[in-house]
Amino acid sequence: MSYFADKHPLVADIFSRYPDSPQGRRSALMPLLREVQDAEGFVSEARMAEIAALCGTTATEVRSVMSFYSTYHTLPTGRYHLQVCSTLMCSLAGSDELWDHLVSHLDVQPGDVSADGRFSVQKVECLGSCGTAPVVQINDEGYYENVTRSKCDRLIAALRQDAPPPPDNPVPVTVREDGRQMMATGERVGASIHDRGPLPMPAGAGGEA
Ligand code: FES
Repeated sequence: MSYFADKHPLVADIFSRYPDSPQGRRSALMPLLREVQDAEGFVSEARMAEIAALCGTTATEVRSVMSFYSTYHTLPTGRYHLQVCSTLMCSLAGSDELWDHLVSHLDVQPGDVSADGRFSVQKVECLGSCGTAPVVQINDEGYYENVTRSKCDRLIAALRQDAPPPPDNPVPVTVREDGRQMMATGERVGASIHDRGPLPMPAGAGGEA
């Protein structure tokens, strides 16, 4: 069954953010992927084909875009998808041992979901928080930092109770409706061009002869 068949206003809204051209339609690929993944937890082959048809491209291209970003999933994930950074700084700080501990503790392998449906695991590239390595991210939420084995065990115990502790650091969310990037805490990130006054005129650029 089609996901987008009864969502014409949503699809029209997504396409309205991009130029009305073949390239513009292809640019809508990522928000369409995000829409499906948020609703279904992953993007199946059938959904890739549906998105490809909407964007005027091929399912192969959709898959190749997905393969570039670890945030997109082609397989179902658990309620808690634990992503362990495996890049150099985290590796030096013990993320390889942490990964082994996590996988054996949960008895789950990448691509699988634990028998109770709660957990799935993935190694990911640098999460951009190298100073607090090793770092674990759960779903699209914030970061758990300086994760030792015992901290990992406490985290798993809390997740088994469906009571995840607040992350050590929320990640910035993507651009909101008003065009701003915000932290999950509500803090603004960076500046908007709309906040800026007129640029100062260079000396002697007054336009007079
Ligand atoms: S290397 Fe792990 S957050 Fe950068």
